Amino acid sequence: MEAFALWTSAEAAQATQGSTDGFWTAGGVSIDSRSTGFGDLFVALRGPNFDGHVFVADALAKGAAAALVDRMPETLPPGANLLKVKDTFQALNDLAGAARQRCGAKVIGITGSVGKTSTKEMLRHVLSRQGATHATVGNLNNHWGVPLTLARMPVDSRFALIEMGMNHANEIAPLSRLARPHIAMVTAVEAVHLENFGSVEEIADAKAEIFAGLQVDGVAILNRDNPHFERLAAAARAAGAAEVIGFGEHPEAQARLVKFASHSSCSCVAAEILGQPLTFKIGAPGRHWVLNALGVLATAHIAGADLAEAGMALADVTAPKGRGEQHSLPWRDGGSVDLIDDSYNASPPSMLAAFAVLAMARPSAARGRRIAVLGDMLELGGRAEEAHAALAAGLVREKIDLVFAAGPLMRALYDALPPQMRGHHAVNSTELLQPLRRAIRSGDVLLVKGSHGSRMDRIVEDLLTPAPQPRAANGW
Ligand SMILES: Nc1ncnc2c1ncn2[C@@H]1O[C@H](COP(=O)(O)OP(=O)(O)OP(=O)(O)O)[C@@H](O)[C@H]1O
Ligand SMILES: [Mg+2]
Repeated sequence: MEAFALWTSAEAAQATQGSTDGFWTAGGVSIDSRSTGFGDLFVALRGPNFDGHVFVADALAKGAAAALVDRMPETLPPGANLLKVKDTFQALNDLAGAARQRCGAKVIGITGSVGKTSTKEMLRHVLSRQGATHATVGNLNNHWGVPLTLARMPVDSRFALIEMGMNHANEIAPLSRLARPHIAMVTAVEAVHLENFGSVEEIADAKAEIFAGLQVDGVAILNRDNPHFERLAAAARAAGAAEVIGFGEHPEAQARLVKFASHSSCSCVAAEILGQPLTFKIGAPGRHWVLNALGVLATAHIAGADLAEAGMALADVTAPKGRGEQHSLPWRDGGSVDLIDDSYNASPPSMLAAFAVLAMARPSAARGRRIAVLGDMLELGGRAEEAHAALAAGLVREKIDLVFAAGPLMRALYDALPPQMRGHHAVNSTELLQPLRRAIRSGDVLLVKGSHGSRMDRIVEDLLTPAPQPRAANGW
């Protein structure tokens, strides 16, 4: 079966000023041989600890149509198709530029301190019902992920959603110049990734770099409730934005929350989106989803999608894996335990948002408790311990029953808790597992959350794995 021709050999060679002997077509683009698919063009990038050229043979063995290289790999299967270029990273960017150039999609760039992936996935959900929608896969939002996403963009896409992330100043501007968005959205500016910045204003300025590539007549979509709104709006106008649209609760927000009702697994919302009243339901709980949805609806409307249809599509949005996904687990005493898997990411604002979701959860049994299982928040810089301890007030306010904590930074939070809220503290997530398992009883609701590097996903995985059946007495 021939793969859909995302790139023909001639197009790819022309875009990258490379040379290739064979005639081939690629249906996808990959930079990781572990996930290379049949018919992909494998791009051999060089990282700090590896050289993709070492994996070329592997990628071709998996069915890659060709490999984009800037030196001869040591091993090659006979008849391998190579696209030879001067520099593979530049070539990936060139492919991205050519893909952007030839495609008529409305390009939507998304950045912010929290909620980029959640918002992007919500937009994907809404827009893909109305037209061919291409989007960043997962969290591939950096200097490799953005060109990769663009290089993968089918020519007939109607909407393209490009997540852009950063750890330092001057990282987003080149990504934006490559993506050239028609709509640039900033979800929120918060004191996360503070490690590499002197102030939150500097973070706001780094997010504002998304306007660097904004197209003529481009629109900025900004969180109106965020204290840095004016700063971002000024930056957008200075970059030539034709329009700045605010979303939030603020009376001047053009995508404005009128009222909402929170439930344990959804929210019902009344809003006004660019002058149109809209009532809708979101299939994921929490105020943060409501606010993200306002940005999503404003973006969808500006991108030319039908607003009412977009609103209806939100009803079956669910929180993605690791970002609030809900599970119900059968428990050993015959009942069940509810689990909120928010283990992919954590920062002070997203912790508080998650505590509010946990507070709203209804334990399935009268004795059930609300339990927060928390791992360290990373990349907070010098005031990390203080930021951890400060979460105690949020947990008390939301009336969380018990806290289990893992990691050295979480010690500061654990010690700041009233004694009756302390479940257990362990040095890492693996060590926390047994004490946690012993404490859980059916009817409990658990929130598991921490930065990706804190590996709280190990706890989720363990809890989701069915317990081995007890051996029969004569089973030896
Ligand atoms: N508007 C918001 N305010 C606070 N927390 C939010 C908001 N939107 C999403 N979150 C929460 O923040 C966490 C991270 O979400 P998400 O992965 O979408 O962020 P991101 O900006 O893509 O992060 P990354 O920097 O890893 O790319 C999740 O727990 C999510 O539920
Ligand atoms: Mg993300």
